[in-house]
Amino acid sequence: MICITTIDFPDTALRATLDAVEVSIYVLEILARERVAELRAAAARRHAARAPAALPVLAIRRATADDNAGIAAIWNHEAQCTIATTETEPRTLAAQSAWLARHGEPHPVIVATSGGEGIVGFGALSPYRPTLCAAVEDSVYVRRDRRGHGVGAALLGQLLDLARARAYRTVLARITAENAASLRLHARHGFRVVGVERQVAFKLGRWHDVVILQRLWRR
Ligand SMILES: CC(C)(COP(=O)(O)OP(=O)(O)OC[C@H]1O[C@@H](n2cnc3c(N)ncnc32)[C@H](O)[C@@H]1OP(=O)(O)O)[C@@H](O)C(=O)NCCC(=O)NCCS
Repeated sequence: MICITTIDFPDTALRATLDAVEVSIYVLEILARERVAELRAAAARRHAARAPAALPVLAIRRATADDNAGIAAIWNHEAQCTIATTETEPRTLAAQSAWLARHGEPHPVIVATSGGEGIVGFGALSPYRPTLCAAVEDSVYVRRDRRGHGVGAALLGQLLDLARARAYRTVLARITAENAASLRLHARHGFRVVGVERQVAFKLGRWHDVVILQRLWRR
């Protein structure tokens, strides 16, 4: 005789378990993607070792009002043409100047310059949520023709130093799930995936998930 027993599982507990499993699967997917990016990066490094490319001589400094046009030029391409940011509005020079002015001493903006080329990338710390004063969100953008040469790593490293110097406890990054370069960059700087916002942005004809990564200093 077959005896079937049904277990009375409260809906909320079941839902929570399913949610936890779903998030775990998602995180595994991200880790798998990071591993693929890691293998690609290793292959790229091997290639670079065979034929060393001329690396830019970089200088990183705090942004000034004179940098607004250069910052806007990099940002506007990403806002309008890529999924690097979920924002879609390009910045006029006035909007860009207002953005920089809002970033006071607690929320520095930095730029990377290379030789006579002007700005090749920029980075910023911004408030994460107005009430979460121990947390900031980073952003890093590198000019298209200067990617893959360590500019992003130099900018993010500097932003983390600035965050520590300001005694922030944690830095967060919100990255679209298919942005392998940014996921890799942040993973290399000690960020770990702490959550996923599902389908929170519709851009360039499709929905995007946003992965939240966090760098937490243990004191
Ligand atoms: C993400 C971004 C800032 C990285 O800057 P970068 O100067 O190209 O990166 P770096 O050369 O410093 O490389 C950093 C790491 O990312 C890896 N990486 C770079 N491009 C990659 C790519 N397309 N795919 C996978 N990994 C990549 C590098 O191999 C390196 O990892 P490693 O140290 O293990 O070798 C740059 O690609 C960019 O500006 N993208 C558009 C804007 C953007 O997405 N900003 C982030 C928004 S959250």
